[in-house]
Amino acid sequence: MAVVFGGRSTEHAISAVSAGSILAALDPDEYEVVPVGITRSGQWVLTSGDPAQLAIADRRLPEITADAGTAVVLPADPTERGLVVLDASEGPRVLAEVDVVFPALHGKYGEDGTIQGLLEMAGIPYVGGGVFASAAAMDKEFTKKLAAAEGIPVGPYAVLRAGVTLAEEDKERLGLPVFVKPSRAGSSHGITKVTDWADLEDAVATARQIDQKVLVEAAIVGREIECGVLEGEAGGAPEASLLAEVRVSGHDFYDFEAKYLDGSCEYDIPADLPERVTRQVQEYATRTFTALDCAGLGRVDFFVTPELDVYLNEINTMPGFTPTSMFPQMWAATGLEYPKLVSRLIRTALR
Ligand code: DAL
Ligand code: MG
Repeated sequence: MAVVFGGRSTEHAISAVSAGSILAALDPDEYEVVPVGITRSGQWVLTSGDPAQLAIADRRLPEITADAGTAVVLPADPTERGLVVLDASEGPRVLAEVDVVFPALHGKYGEDGTIQGLLEMAGIPYVGGGVFASAAAMDKEFTKKLAAAEGIPVGPYAVLRAGVTLAEEDKERLGLPVFVKPSRAGSSHGITKVTDWADLEDAVATARQIDQKVLVEAAIVGREIECGVLEGEAGGAPEASLLAEVRVSGHDFYDFEAKYLDGSCEYDIPADLPERVTRQVQEYATRTFTALDCAGLGRVDFFVTPELDVYLNEINTMPGFTPTSMFPQMWAATGLEYPKLVSRLIRTALR
């Protein structure tokens, strides 16, 4: 199998950290693993796959570089199912037969249907959602539209396509504060909480550094609740994990720093919610997974208000697998330890 990580998105480093944990969990007696990094400029390179080099150390984020000197490509012939190494000294040679790919990539060019399309073209099975689910879930506009069509509550929002500014009537409808987000991004990159309309323009410009399409969402006052979903084994209904609550202190919201760097988050698994609300969230989570035609895995994020109303925030089709990430922790608490979780994902991909 190949684990692919890094990539061209703003979540390059987080993907590398996710892959480090996945690589560490793969039993070498069971899997022959080819660790393929993608540089920020998009070059595929063979890496050592050493988990120690794929970790956050002293706030320093890992980076995939091309200095290994060997580029990796997919073969042109989809019947071959291999990975080819282009070795500067020896020329092209087949590196490995690959039965399955774990695209441990977050964000653009990884979690958005693009690598999924490439793997479909090459005829190689892969972990996670297909082209459509990945593209739909990457885009917060279409996630909301598809989920809302299934009756899953989403908060008020406005979409600002390239060059468009927020209309006065939308300001009145949304009220302050609002969250301004790139429509297609992750790990809280490019997100600003706006508490004064005078700051909106800067916030939109920040989000547009990542994506020209921007979402302006009414802030939902509530708790951050997350739910892991796995595709059912043997084609059964999707399964929901125990819920997690993320409690952030010293930050305006669950931003990049809080998520990965400064240890300011506390997590409750299972989240302390009434049984009825837990079941509601789990049901919305599996329905969102199905509504977006997901496969393999997903982490569905919600807000739960003090009145215990539940709102979908978003779904991640390749959620973080870092040591602090919620998805593997929620499944461990549900009874599926990290190595078993990874094996199940690979099994599902190969079915
Ligand atoms: N986008 C990050 C990796 C997450 O959802 O966990
Ligand atoms: Mg996300």
